[in-house]
Amino acid sequence: MWGGFTMSVLYIRGGKPLEGELTVQGAKNSVLPILAACLLAGGPVELDNCPRLTDVAAALGILRHLGCQAGQEGHVITVDPRGAEGSAVSEEQMRSMRSSIIFLGPLLARTGQARLTYPGGCELGARPIDLHLSAIRALGCQVTEDAGGIYCRGRPVGGEVYLTLPSVGATENAMLCAVGASGDSTIVNAAREPEIVDLQGFLNALGARVRGAGSGVITVEGGRRLGGGHYTVMGDRIVAATLLAGVAAAGGHVALRGVDWRSLATVLSVFHQAGCQVASGEDRVELARDPSCPLQAVREIIHTAPYPGFPTDAQAPVMAALAASRGSTWFEENMFDSRYRHVAELRNMGADITVRGRTALVRGVERLHGARVAAADLRGGGALAVAALGARGESVLSGLHHVDRGYECLEGMLRQLGGQARREEEEPAAS
Ligand code: EPZ
Repeated sequence: MWGGFTMSVLYIRGGKPLEGELTVQGAKNSVLPILAACLLAGGPVELDNCPRLTDVAAALGILRHLGCQAGQEGHVITVDPRGAEGSAVSEEQMRSMRSSIIFLGPLLARTGQARLTYPGGCELGARPIDLHLSAIRALGCQVTEDAGGIYCRGRPVGGEVYLTLPSVGATENAMLCAVGASGDSTIVNAAREPEIVDLQGFLNALGARVRGAGSGVITVEGGRRLGGGHYTVMGDRIVAATLLAGVAAAGGHVALRGVDWRSLATVLSVFHQAGCQVASGEDRVELARDPSCPLQAVREIIHTAPYPGFPTDAQAPVMAALAASRGSTWFEENMFDSRYRHVAELRNMGADITVRGRTALVRGVERLHGARVAAADLRGGGALAVAALGARGESVLSGLHHVDRGYECLEGMLRQLGGQARREEEEPAAS
């Protein structure tokens, strides 16, 4: 007996094609840096299209801990940073999610000091922050580290930041620190992800002068006082990729609104090569697969790479769809050391996948079968839901604390598209 302790699980019955339309939630990986950027605002901020996620709630908790008024009503978030004096993020908050490190740059810009411990979120392997710290140093702040954490002092003066890797988080931290710097800055070898462009749009809506996001070189004008403002967060391209993988796995025809097809062009290309019909418009993406025509293996190796390459976050969901296909597909995961933790559970559903270091060989089988499976990380959880949609019979997915970090009510999205999915509370089997 667990003394009444229960855990949420998803029951997903496969084999039913998905049909219908859905507006994709706002992007987790855009709203999180935008929330950190609210520390730079000189007045109230209102954000639309914000997803209801546990990571978003954690970021709002950090803002409140620092002294901001911050809250979410539905998909609208309001933040008033004018009362914020704090400069230390608690260890528990830092460990709650990887992107807590993104508060470092704006804290230094606002207060001239910051005290953080190392961020959590290590389920993908090593999650170093050396590029974040070198960027902060290049902008004129002192950074010291010891067993207890990271101590930064000094207001940024601006300068040249050279990133040895186009790190998304380090680019965002550098942008936020530079916006609050007294002088101008340039960030070279910056990440080019659409979420970086969204962050630039938000900062400029507050009165900043940031240019070049989406290219490898970003320039930031220093010494500008920012006001408050209103902004609408972009659609979540990885949630869109996950849902499209579900249609590829189960068959059917689905249209997704609220997402720019260009932000997931490489994923659409893979589904097209696998035999799906793909169509796209200004603000929508459609995917169809006749359930009687099996998915085809993709001849070229699917390499994950910084944008505009194939997104690492889509690797697991796309692999789950291709687990049931004709032929073999190779994956190469180049962004993280440990991002194949969904493979073991896909094997439990009948997949034939061999992993050697960074590469995974997926030998397509005719069909997966339902099983009791557990998510080990956020996108791996999305992948197991994709697999369940195409599998024979019913699957039970646990580990939803991972899934709820990035998918707002996944079962609701699947039901809206005709999927058979429900969330239940159950007592874990006594070990
Ligand atoms: C962001 O993580 C995303 N998270 C990740 O999405 C995404 O997988 C990743 O970018 C790559 O696109 C958020 O935006 C909140 P990186 P981030 O810094 O910023 C190495 C999801 O599922 N690196 O671009 O942490 C790092 O080890 C999440 O939504 C350093 O070596 O990614 C990795 O190998 C998972 N030193 C590579 O760069 C550093 O200082 C890319 O990491 C920083 C990173």
